[in-house]
Amino acid sequence: MISFLGLGHMGAPMARRLVEAGHKVTVWNRTPRTVEGAVTAPSPAEAVAEAELVITMLSDPAAVKRVLADAAPGLRPGAVIVEMSTIGPEAVAELRDRLPSQVGLVDAPVLGSVQPARDGTLTVLAGGLPGDLERCREILGVFGQVREIGGPGSGAAMKLAVMSAMVPAQVLLAETVAYGEASGVDVGTLLDVLGGTFLGALVERVRPAIENGPPETRYGLALAAKDLVLASHETQTLAAAARDRLLDATAAGLGGADVTAVFGHAATARVPRVKKLNPTSVPATNGYYSHATKAAGLLFVSGQVALDPAGKVVGEGDMTRQSEYVMDLLERILADQGCTFDDVTHIRTHLTDMSLLAEYGAVRQRHITGEPPASTTVEVSRLFQPGLMIEVEVIAALPATR
Ligand SMILES: NC(=O)c1ccc[n+]([C@@H]2O[C@H](COP(=O)([O-])OP(=O)(O)OC[C@H]3O[C@@H](n4cnc5c(N)ncnc54)[C@H](OP(=O)(O)O)[C@@H]3O)[C@@H](O)[C@H]2O)c1
Repeated sequence: MISFLGLGHMGAPMARRLVEAGHKVTVWNRTPRTVEGAVTAPSPAEAVAEAELVITMLSDPAAVKRVLADAAPGLRPGAVIVEMSTIGPEAVAELRDRLPSQVGLVDAPVLGSVQPARDGTLTVLAGGLPGDLERCREILGVFGQVREIGGPGSGAAMKLAVMSAMVPAQVLLAETVAYGEASGVDVGTLLDVLGGTFLGALVERVRPAIENGPPETRYGLALAAKDLVLASHETQTLAAAARDRLLDATAAGLGGADVTAVFGHAATARVPRVKKLNPTSVPATNGYYSHATKAAGLLFVSGQVALDPAGKVVGEGDMTRQSEYVMDLLERILADQGCTFDDVTHIRTHLTDMSLLAEYGAVRQRHITGEPPASTTVEVSRLFQPGLMIEVEVIAALPATR
């Protein structure tokens, strides 16, 4: 018996194909849904109770971890889990660690969307131990062409690598169309010209969406953004720029729309080059500046001083106390963006009395424990409010997914 968990855009037609191929199938979906010819189970644990193979087709790593944790009490020793969502190799490795050793795991994400899922013409990218692959080879063939990539996690890794080309290519075309429109180029002619180049296949695929707007969702825009977030490209890559464009479209409310909604979005939205940040974990500014800005993969944190939320100096005449307070504020602002002092590229300190440098230095060494960043320390005659003895600003490199 095969258990199928997740009946979304892809899962429902895939489960249906298994039934049509004559397999005994039990299905479960968070929002109750049925598949004709399959038994519907009320919980993941009940869905997997009799299963030799358990297939998961869920949105993202969190969903897969949640559902498999719920299924765990029902899993039979000797069962093989075939994880077909796009969750990346790290999540696959985590699943392996969490599953009992008697349960096999194959990562088998797919290329192709809803129609190929209906037709059984997906490309399945399978990774796993030879014995586990052997046990699901025939079943995977029901979904399309199976490519056995290698050991555990290799299918998931291959899928992210492939999406790193396919998703940005669509975003690039969306930006090209927006650029053409803005420069007065006729979009139909632009598509005709591009259609005659090596981009032809992609152009023809998205042309209906460009001309008539996005179709009913097949591949959700938020899932495309998720694929590029999982691929964790460095900030400067084209794929990272495409990821940010899609995250921006998701924030604009298009996450549930088909990925081709990026065509309309690219024409109207400009991803702001500089984002202003005012985390609530530190006292608010006076409104004339932001606590931090981020741009081009860097975080710029404003000079921090020892003022409490009411604007009163903390630790008047006490350099150690003021330094502690300032380093704590910097730490909180960095943490708000997923950074630590290890991510700081440059630190600039202003002291009103350089003879107290050692007191500040001792505090700083408690916070910056690794290899020190580039640094500038200067004495200034005064800071912007009487009683302030120190002001420190930092620049940090943002993690790749921000
Ligand atoms: N659509 C495509 O063209 C395509 C192509 C290749 C690969 N993929 C990948 O295949 C996977 C599924 O895609 P899809 O298009 O079928 O997605 P979908 O239509 O959004 O379906 C997502 C499924 O995940 C379930 N789910 C989400 N969060 C959950 C949670 N916390 N607990 C339990 N269930 C949860 C949903 O349940 P509810 O129904 O209750 O919301 C639904 O069954 C994704 O990883 C996607 O990236 C998609």
